[in-house]
Amino acid sequence: MQLPPPLRAAIDRALEGVSSAELTSAAQKLSDRYRAEVRDGTPHLANQHAALAYLGTRLPATYAAVRRSFEAVAAACPGFAPTTVFDAGAGPGTASWAASDCWPTVSDALLVESNATIRGLGERLMPEVALRAAWSRADLTGGLPDITKRDLVTLAYVLDELSPAARDTLVDRLWELTAGVLVIVEPGTPAGWQRILRARARLIEAGAALVAPCPHAQTCPLVEPDWCHFAARVARSRTHRTLKQADVPWEDEKFIYVAATREPAPATASRVIAPPHRNTGRVTLKLCQSDGTAQSRLVTRREGDAFKQARRSDWGDVFDSGETPDR
Ligand SMILES: C[S@@+](CC[C@H](N)C(=O)[O-])C[C@H]1O[C@@H](n2cnc3c(N)ncnc32)[C@H](O)[C@@H]1O
Repeated sequence: MQLPPPLRAAIDRALEGVSSAELTSAAQKLSDRYRAEVRDGTPHLANQHAALAYLGTRLPATYAAVRRSFEAVAAACPGFAPTTVFDAGAGPGTASWAASDCWPTVSDALLVESNATIRGLGERLMPEVALRAAWSRADLTGGLPDITKRDLVTLAYVLDELSPAARDTLVDRLWELTAGVLVIVEPGTPAGWQRILRARARLIEAGAALVAPCPHAQTCPLVEPDWCHFAARVARSRTHRTLKQADVPWEDEKFIYVAATREPAPATASRVIAPPHRNTGRVTLKLCQSDGTAQSRLVTRREGDAFKQARRSDWGDVFDSGETPDR
């Protein structure tokens, strides 16, 4: 996946003239903090260099993860055509960019971001996208009064920055503010999966129907040390490679998400929850299934259409072997 060209160009412009050594060091510190999920009272994006490093190194990855999550929603709900977005914990507006790219109907975004530095950078990028954007400095843990419902509500890579109690309250409030679909995305780590599982349970309890990735609303069948996650491949620009001190022109962002709707749940047969293993005449898919179980399924050439579909299937895709799913 590539970033939309206007976004890529706007990021390059924002990084122009900034010391590459300072940015590389800031990118390394940022990566260490995110990896260790540091919560020491100091924001990760505490200064201009950290925020610029986010644009250069993290935004492409979070964009890819959010965009993939949106693709799964669009595939499951082809009639969903959001016009309004609430981007909670917007950072530089990553999820709003992805929403606008996924659904050309999106025309209006409310972006809530308490950090002035990253908000300022987001405001500089935003004119490049055809979107009426309103930014708010509200604290997500303050109950979000005076906000009206939006068609699409997003919370991307934010839960890990909040206390467990604040996460629960925020998920409940975001669901109240969701007119159409709520999408929550987290890093694809075991801890990120646990946070998504908790949000998923609260949403189900509140009467939400799951759009993706789960093909059922039963208890997640995966058991630690296994965990549910997906991967989105994103192209690295030259700047991105320099800041990461990496030669490979792409990276795989591991992520996990949950999407919930107020509409009846769309029927999903099974979802591929690991990279498929392909051999001549056989494909093995690890599937999460509508009956609430997860299992490996060997699909052989003898199964005709199912085999053709299995051969095309990728990690994160829906796999429908033709059987009618129960929900
Ligand atoms: C990792 S960034 C993710 C940004 C963006 N959603 C993305 O996917 O690229 C998390 C953002 O949430 C914001 N944030 C964290 N806690 C917040 C709070 N209590 N109120 C408002 N924003 C918050 C941070 O300032 C940061 O910009």
